[in-house]
Amino acid sequence: MKYFELKNKIIELFEKNGIDEPSDADWIMVEVLGVSRSMLPFVQNISDSDVLKIMDIAKKRAEHVPIAYIFGKTNFFGRDFKVNENCLIPRLDTEILVEEAIKCIKKKNQVVSVLDIGTGSGAIAITIASETSAKVTAVDVSKKALEIAEENAKANNANVKFVLSDLYENIKGERFDLIVSNPPYIETGVIETLDREVASHEPILALDGGEDGLNFYRRIIQDAKFHLNPHGMIFFEIGYNQSQSVRKLLEKDFENIKVVKDYGGNTRVVFAELREI
Ligand SMILES: C[S@@+](CC[C@H](N)C(=O)[O-])C[C@H]1O[C@@H](n2cnc3c(N)ncnc32)[C@H](O)[C@@H]1O
Repeated sequence: MKYFELKNKIIELFEKNGIDEPSDADWIMVEVLGVSRSMLPFVQNISDSDVLKIMDIAKKRAEHVPIAYIFGKTNFFGRDFKVNENCLIPRLDTEILVEEAIKCIKKKNQVVSVLDIGTGSGAIAITIASETSAKVTAVDVSKKALEIAEENAKANNANVKFVLSDLYENIKGERFDLIVSNPPYIETGVIETLDREVASHEPILALDGGEDGLNFYRRIIQDAKFHLNPHGMIFFEIGYNQSQSVRKLLEKDFENIKVVKDYGGNTRVVFAELREI
C-alpha cells in the first residue's frame, strides 16, 4: 500500500472517532517504518505486515490513547523520556519552567541544590541535572512514577536523587537553593471536561489540584521557607488563569515575584525569591 492511501485510511478512522490529529497518522508510520517524516510521501510500498502493525496502533489512538503512551516515550528538551500511564506526559510548556530555572542556576556561579516536587517522569529534574552542574533531588508520592523517573535518569546518564515523599515529608531538615515544581493544578470539577486523552489516561494524581486547583501551591509555599536556603528561589508552572492567585500565595514569604508567558501567550511560570527574615 502507498503512504497516501494508508494515511487517508487512518484519518478516516480518526475522524469517525472524533480525533482531530492527522499528524499522528504520520508519527505512527514514522515509528513503524523507521523513516523520517519528510520521506514518508516517497514510500511506495508498505508491506502487509507493516500495514497491520500501523493499523493496530491507529486503532489504539482512535480509542483516545495518547500517542506518547502508545509508543511508551516522548521527547522533552531534546531528550527521550520513557512514559506510561503512571506518569504525566511532559508538556512543551514545561520546557519554559525548566528554561527559567536553568537561567537562574547558571547565573549563580556556584553549585546549586535543586528540589523538584512531583517529578513524574523525571523530565524537569533530569533536564536540570543534565544541563547544569546542579545537585538535584526529586520527590513524588507515586512509587510507580518514580520507577519510570529512575529509568529515565539512567537512560540519560543523569545524577538525580529520587525520594518517595508526600511533598517535603521524607526530606525533613534538608534545604535547597531552588525549588521547582509543576504540581497537579487542575480544578477537580474541570478534570472530566478535559480531552479524553488526558481525563481518561493520565494519572489523576498528576492532575487534581483540589477544588480551586491551588491545593499544591498552598502546601508547597507554606513550608518552602523551611526547605530553602537564604535567597532561595521557587519556580512553579501554573495554569493559564492562576498567576494572580499564586502570586498572592507567594507574597507572604517571597519577593521579586515574576511571571513568564508560554508560546501561546498565557501566563505559565511564576518564580520568586525567599524574603529575608
Ligand atoms: C503535573 S504532574 C508533573 C510531572 C512532571 N514534573 C512534569 O512536569 O511532567 C504532578 C506530579 O506530582 C505528583 N504528586 C501528586 N501529589 C503529590 C504529593 N503529595 N507529593 C509529591 N508528589 C505528588 C504526581 O504523582 C505527579 O507526578
